[in-house]
Amino acid sequence: MISASCILALGLFSSALGKHQYEGGKFSHLRRLQGELGGDEERLIPERKELPKRSAGLNEQTCTALPGVESALLNDTSTFTFKVQTLGSLSLAWVGNGSGVLLVLTTFQVPLFMIRFGQSNLYRSEDYGKTFKDVTHLINHTFIQTEFGIAISPDHSGKVILSGDVSDVGGFRLFRSQDFGLTFVSTDLPFEPLIQILYNPGDCNKLLTLSIMMDLWLSEDFGATWRKIHDSVCLVRWGPKNSIYFTTNNNGSCNDKGMLHLRKTFDYGKSFHTIATRVYSFVLGGRFVFASIMTGTSTERMIHVSVDGGETWNMAQLPTVTHEQFYSILAANQDVIFMHVDDPGDSGVGTIYVSDDRGTVFSKSLERHLYTTTGSDTDFTVIHSLRGVYMTSVLADDGTVETVITYDQGAKWQRLRRPENSHCNTDTSTNRPNRCRLHIHASYSTTMKMNVPMLPLSQPSAVGLILAHGSVEDADSVLFPDVYVSDDGGYSWMLALKGPHHYAILDSGGLLVAVEHTNLPVSQIKFSTDEGQCWHTYNFTNDPLHFSGMDSEPGSRSMNVSLWGYRKDFSKWVVITIDFRKLLTRDCTEGDYVQWLAHSSDTTGSNDGCLLGYKETFLRLRKGSVCWNGRDYAVTKRLSPCPCTLDDYHCDFGYYRPENSSECVEQEELKDRPLEFCLNGTTEQLQTSGYRKIPSSQCEGGFQPVRKETDLRKMCTSNALIPYSLIENSSTNTALIVMVVIAILLTSAVAGVWLVKKYVCGGRFLVHRYSVMREHAEANKIEGVDDVDPHYLCPSTHVCVISSVLAGMLAGCLFYYLRWKKYNI
Ligand SMILES: *[C@@H]1O[C@H](CO)[C@@H](O)[C@H](O)[C@H]1NC(C)=O
Ligand SMILES: *[C@@H]1O[C@H](CO)[C@@H](O)[C@H](O)[C@H]1NC(C)=O
Ligand SMILES: *[C@@H]1O[C@H](CO)[C@@H](O)[C@H](O)[C@H]1NC(C)=O
Ligand SMILES: *[C@@H]1O[C@H](CO)[C@@H](O)[C@H](O)[C@H]1NC(C)=O
Ligand SMILES: *[C@@H]1O[C@H](CO)[C@@H](O)[C@H](O)[C@H]1NC(C)=O
Ligand SMILES: *[C@@H]1O[C@H](CO)[C@@H](O)[C@H](O)[C@H]1NC(C)=O
Ligand SMILES: *[C@@H]1O[C@H](CO)[C@@H](O)[C@H](O)[C@H]1NC(C)=O
Ligand SMILES: *[C@@H]1O[C@H](CO)[C@@H](O)[C@H](O)[C@H]1NC(C)=O
Repeated sequence: MISASCILALGLFSSALGKHQYEGGKFSHLRRLQGELGGDEERLIPERKELPKRSAGLNEQTCTALPGVESALLNDTSTFTFKVQTLGSLSLAWVGNGSGVLLVLTTFQVPLFMIRFGQSNLYRSEDYGKTFKDVTHLINHTFIQTEFGIAISPDHSGKVILSGDVSDVGGFRLFRSQDFGLTFVSTDLPFEPLIQILYNPGDCNKLLTLSIMMDLWLSEDFGATWRKIHDSVCLVRWGPKNSIYFTTNNNGSCNDKGMLHLRKTFDYGKSFHTIATRVYSFVLGGRFVFASIMTGTSTERMIHVSVDGGETWNMAQLPTVTHEQFYSILAANQDVIFMHVDDPGDSGVGTIYVSDDRGTVFSKSLERHLYTTTGSDTDFTVIHSLRGVYMTSVLADDGTVETVITYDQGAKWQRLRRPENSHCNTDTSTNRPNRCRLHIHASYSTTMKMNVPMLPLSQPSAVGLILAHGSVEDADSVLFPDVYVSDDGGYSWMLALKGPHHYAILDSGGLLVAVEHTNLPVSQIKFSTDEGQCWHTYNFTNDPLHFSGMDSEPGSRSMNVSLWGYRKDFSKWVVITIDFRKLLTRDCTEGDYVQWLAHSSDTTGSNDGCLLGYKETFLRLRKGSVCWNGRDYAVTKRLSPCPCTLDDYHCDFGYYRPENSSECVEQEELKDRPLEFCLNGTTEQLQTSGYRKIPSSQCEGGFQPVRKETDLRKMCTSNALIPYSLIENSSTNTALIVMVVIAILLTSAVAGVWLVKKYVCGGRFLVHRYSVMREHAEANKIEGVDDVDPHYLCPSTHVCVISSVLAGMLAGCLFYYLRWKKYNI
């Protein structure tokens, strides 16, 4: 083995996921009420039908074997072996939606310090990964960087750009395809790209990128010609309506955070407006523009929010933070922002605040929220399969990490219920009553290098379903987490699979598949047709595979799943694709679906299932039905309105909800002080009884507390638009920033050395890492900003990366370190 042999990265890049479909479907007898509320209440009240009783999971009791599985699937299992060495990296990109086109790029690179030398091979499949054609001639073996060299258009129109490095003959070259990678046109670039090509989501012929000289380049003809539109650009994002937002520093140093200008252009670089100065960083999310802006003469910064694209700014009613702290936008949609504010000191915890619809008034939602500054990791998870549900971890007083969940968009948080079929022994340890709580493992556990190969998984098309690794708190299960499934959006959980697994949702939740996470070669895939209660197995090969990762077409509508890995001696990449279509022999019909009321906890109450002003009744597949939802399956639901209750209100600015209480009480520190905040340049005084309606709540009537904002006719200013008024302290600022940057670099270096020692030179040969970086091509998608180093951002459409690191037996090993995208600002 040569010295270059220590990098093995299999990256799975895919096009972005689809939007949730509420419309359409097969159920014409039901009224479809997208956004239609009120009236006709009688007919809208859903009849509740009980779902079949759950089984104990783990293939016990009620599970019956599916006949003929082996023979049906054996015919539909395809194996393809790539003729390239596994010593290199492999990236996957899905092109289009339902096209079945998969591009695979393998790159072999000699990691000589500062010199790049490498070759890439390109393969193309048109049948969901069953067979591939070597189409390397289309790119003439040009070296393509796997980290950011592939850009797939988010509009599913089949546009692909590969950025090639031809520095041996001088320069950089794009390979552009508009026909799903069938043909490529090559174009020489007049600059060296630093980041991935960014598609304008509104018009994928318009592209942006940064050069290593920090110049901003734009193409209006899908990369055929490029023009430089600005220099000294630090961070750039496409905004709504073809706008471009970027930060710039006249001095050319992007390390000078806090001295940046935020600018935007509406006309592809013909004119520019500076919309804020003294900017630390910015994020676009939902309909909001956020900027963290230095305040006064200090080193503190504050979040400013604009809902009109940066024309007017308001200071967010949030604590200020210093250089050592950070803000992070955890989630943002059209109505609400979840903002994490780091506590002072290196505590690893902070507070989550949720906003009003202007993004100005924030209410405290969760304290002691775990978000480490060193690892920059948080367990915060948006559950895509049920409205209003989010999950994360808090650091309890005794130092343990606990999972908490909210079902009402952050108004109340609670701990998870103990799984019905968990085998936790409560009575032995009376001093630890919390022992048997379910803890869900997410990013934090991954960072801590625990045995957690995948993050929690949920999909809009698979209503109510969540798959996640978890443990009830005893030592064994923490070291070796199991897979738990919830079928009701996180209210109840069930132990589904023993030990860590890789898992995927197929056929809109009609089929779940899992492969055990182990160091041994695998030959078995597990699958379930009843949302994880019963699991069946299928031996897909006689020659076990060293498994690297599992992938299927984004959107969870596919029935084809591909297992990536290699056989003995690491020689060749192998992909095994299993088509489960024969397993589900018939199409689902009306009788296969039952009504299900979301968020139902008390079947007797008339407000049962009410959440943010309405209840939703979905049609869901019966657990016992073994049938195919189909590619065109659309979630069918109906809505009915609810009166307002305490649950439709956040605690207002200055108030909080004590644990287990739905009533809001005044915060001690703000008692008897006037509640003032700055809005549109004047001070507003708030008179409140402690409740503020949750922005997206559509409730009518019922509980209506008084709340009034009075304009005090007193000016208050935000720093956003005062250009360079407070520059005198900038030298100390800069010194501080430089020190912080150096400290961060040192920490990263130490961490890097530690990682290399532990995993590369520490005698463990093979480490598989799986990081999911799913991004949703939804209107409410947030674009992240990395607090430390903007160069690592690859914000376009790639979805997940599976990488395996093969330890070098010789010196000179490199560690392929993929950073998580952060939303810190
Ligand atoms: C993909 O196609 C399916 C129908 O085949 C559609 O329901 C879905 O919305 C599409 N996804 C995207 C992102 O366009
Ligand atoms: C497998 O495929 C072959 C031909 O492709 C066919 O003749 C055979 O009936 C199939 N077997 C099953 C069990 O479907
Ligand atoms: C392919 O690359 C080789 C060497 O880099 C070069 O000599 C040749 O002209 C290239 N062919 C095309 C069609 O670009
Ligand atoms: C630019 O940087 C130089 C030193 O690198 C410094 O002296 C000067 O004040 C800076 N100018 C501005 C506008 O920040
Ligand atoms: C599948 O493989 C497992 C071991 O990996 C073995 O125990 C089992 O008998 C096999 N099943 C069949 C049907 O061959
Ligand atoms: C699975 O792959 C085959 C091509 O091999 C394709 O025809 C079929 O539509 C795919 N199934 C689904 C549900 O995507
Ligand atoms: C909240 O309720 C749970 C169970 O209902 C209880 O164990 C816990 O002690 C309560 N917390 C407080 C602060 O009352
Ligand atoms: C503040 O400004 C926004 C946007 O210009 C405007 O829509 C809103 O009505 C103003 N609010 C007040 C209280 O003046």
